Amino acid sequence: MYDRGKVIAGIIIFLALVTFPFFYKTGKANVQIEPKINTPVIEGLSEKKCVESKEFMRANHMQLLNEWRDAAVRDGQRTYVASDGKSYAISLQNTCMNCHSNKKEFCDTCHSYTGVKPYCWDCHIAPMEAKR
Ligand code: HEC
Ligand code: HEC
Ligand code: HEC
Repeated sequence: MYDRGKVIAGIIIFLALVTFPFFYKTGKANVQIEPKINTPVIEGLSEKKCVESKEFMRANHMQLLNEWRDAAVRDGQRTYVASDGKSYAISLQNTCMNCHSNKKEFCDTCHSYTGVKPYCWDCHIAPMEAKR
């Protein structure tokens, strides 16, 4: 005869292992995500600042990117003057992704968490993942 106790214990352990990733993920879902900004370019900045404030960027980077695209493509405007007076080249690839060269740990972390999938990378070249 089989040892019922052992078989049941085995099944319980098996189920625990199989379902662990789900519980683990659910537990994590409440954690506030902190996208990583530790790229070589950002580490080298004297002031660790985005083109606009963090709060503005968090809430409005999609609109800003739309404005940048329209400015560049429709009006041939290639320079963005930020609210602090600093100028930036209008370029998703050469400006945003120069600093945020860790697309996976930065943009993608947030987007997969919120279920957003920008189609930009069908055409724009995503950065090579820079390793620290
Ligand atoms: C000069 C380097 C630099 C450039 C260029 C830059 N960023 Fe940033 N970005 C940063 C830094 C540094 C932070 C973190 C700011 C802070 O913590 O105050 C940041 C923060 C952000 C955030 C908010 C992250 C959060 O945790 O809420 C978003 C979104 C963002 N950037 C998107 C962009 C986009 C889109 C572009 C191009 C339009 C861009 N960045 C260009 C350096 C840069
Ligand atoms: C702090 C979290 C966060 C970070 C970091 C972040 N995003 Fe986003 N992004 C979002 C959220 C949330 C949305 C959806 C906003 C909405 O639907 O109103 C979004 C939407 C977008 C959209 C519009 C997509 C669409 O289908 O409407 C683009 C484009 C975009 N992000 C680009 C970027 C790029 C490029 C980076 C990295 C440089 C980045 N984002 C980093 C949170 C983030
Ligand atoms: C069908 C291809 C395609 C897709 C998809 C696409 N773009 Fe573009 N984008 C272009 C082309 C072509 C240009 C013009 C390049 C130039 O004139 O320098 C451009 C220019 C831009 C520019 C200004 C110049 C530059 O080099 O960055 C921005 C900003 C931009 N796109 C953002 C976005 C964002 C954000 C998304 C996703 C929401 C996106 N694009 C999706 C093709 C595309």
